[in-house]
Amino acid sequence: MNFNFTNKRPQDADALIFAVEKDGLAHVDFGLEHSDIIRAAAKTARFGGKVGEVFETFTSENGQVLRIVLTGIGKGKGRDLEAAGGLAVAKILSSGAKHAAICPSGLDTEDLARMAFGAKLRSWRIDKYRTTLPEKQKPTLATVTVLDQDLETAKDWVDLSAVADGIALTRELVAEPANTIYPESFVARCEELKDMGVEFTILGWDEMEKLGMGALLGVSQGSERPPRLLAMKWDGTDGKQKKPLALVGKGVTFDTGGISLKPGAGMEEMKWDMGGAGAVAGTMKALAGRKAQAHVVGICGLVENMPDGKAQRPGDVVTSMQGQTIEVINTDAEGRLVLCDAMHWTQETFEPEIMIDLATLTGAMIISLGHEYAGVFSNDDDLAADLVDAGKDSGDPVWRLPIGPAYDKLINSPIADMKNVGPRGAGSITAAQFLHRFVKEGVKWAHLDVAGMVWADKASPLWEKGATGYGVRLLNQYVADHFED
Ligand code: BES
Ligand code: MN
Ligand code: ZN
Repeated sequence: MNFNFTNKRPQDADALIFAVEKDGLAHVDFGLEHSDIIRAAAKTARFGGKVGEVFETFTSENGQVLRIVLTGIGKGKGRDLEAAGGLAVAKILSSGAKHAAICPSGLDTEDLARMAFGAKLRSWRIDKYRTTLPEKQKPTLATVTVLDQDLETAKDWVDLSAVADGIALTRELVAEPANTIYPESFVARCEELKDMGVEFTILGWDEMEKLGMGALLGVSQGSERPPRLLAMKWDGTDGKQKKPLALVGKGVTFDTGGISLKPGAGMEEMKWDMGGAGAVAGTMKALAGRKAQAHVVGICGLVENMPDGKAQRPGDVVTSMQGQTIEVINTDAEGRLVLCDAMHWTQETFEPEIMIDLATLTGAMIISLGHEYAGVFSNDDDLAADLVDAGKDSGDPVWRLPIGPAYDKLINSPIADMKNVGPRGAGSITAAQFLHRFVKEGVKWAHLDVAGMVWADKASPLWEKGATGYGVRLLNQYVADHFED
């Protein structure tokens, strides 16, 4: 989708979008010949300007048909404006309309930026594998023009647009199937970030073997696809912020469960088991894209979990890079094995003060919170609270769950330092406890279990069903709030 900015309505715009406040129909200046009948029609259809309400009608101008879309913004708060922009685009994306103009409707530049952000997010789709899509279902809307020339260079829009580009990268990585996105091709897709000033470090099997990453490599050994550890560094502070913020993502490009094989039904969903790593990549793109004044490293632990003659077995004992040994009770609890080595390497290499990991770690997370919140687990109350706040402000919601010694002892093993699964209860918490054992003294750490958030079975104002891009807005907000002035 192309976004343009000008003060004059383009001749070829065939759809006009107007934002309407709750009960605010009377105040909208349509500036059209038939404004009164449009207003009356919306009233007749019981359009009230609440968020979620969208009214579409047609009028004529100089003998031409013109599509009119009214989208409710409620009281006009930021997040509501995003939803209104997204829903207006959703309404007309495949409607035949080609060029939509978002009319100012009394909104200022900041508000219009929010609306355009919603429109940009909702216009993302992945149609590349559809060769027989009926003509009428194909997207037609190619251009959105916002009738505010100042917006083009306004910081609000430049920043939000960069965040939307980051989210688009995350969605692409998440939505692509596992025969196109595997560790090497994941890295290749991220390489565009180099042109934005992001520095790359990439480790392969041999380097990781030398470092002793027995936990991560144990997962990878059943796959034909070689693993990768990808580190992306963005420093927008000219070296002023010495210790970086570290973001570490679980990037299991496909999770069959390994020898502890998952059931067949629904297994295709495990193509998005790299959603944590996808969010890390998208966040790095957003931060670099808007030249964030922060020093951040993004690390992706990339492996494929497959059953094979060379795959690890239940009962195997592996040694992590940190030195602690792990009894692999269930090869399907692979995410924590990947993360423990990725997190240890991150702390050794970058000495972060704060480390946040993101992972589609446990099905139990979906049992506890469904698809409404990601779970956050932390050894630091302030960090947990800051992430909850960033979730509220950004629209990527987060809910805190407990950790503690009583849960920690549930993963003690009779043969090794720990086992990779606990008992049936508190599955998301014991997974977090496992990761906690790899956090160095003094490091503030938070674990986000995003299992319920990276994929959606139904559409929302900001996404079509499928990849949501969860995590990018959250982490971008957290960085903006705590590292930038
Ligand atoms: N990737 C899965 C978790 C998952 C399941 C995410 C469903 C999203 C939807 C993870 O690797 C896994 O298999 N976890 C196991 C852990 C269990 C063996 C202790 C699970 O949740 O069943
Ligand atoms: Mn698994
Ligand atoms: Zn997994």
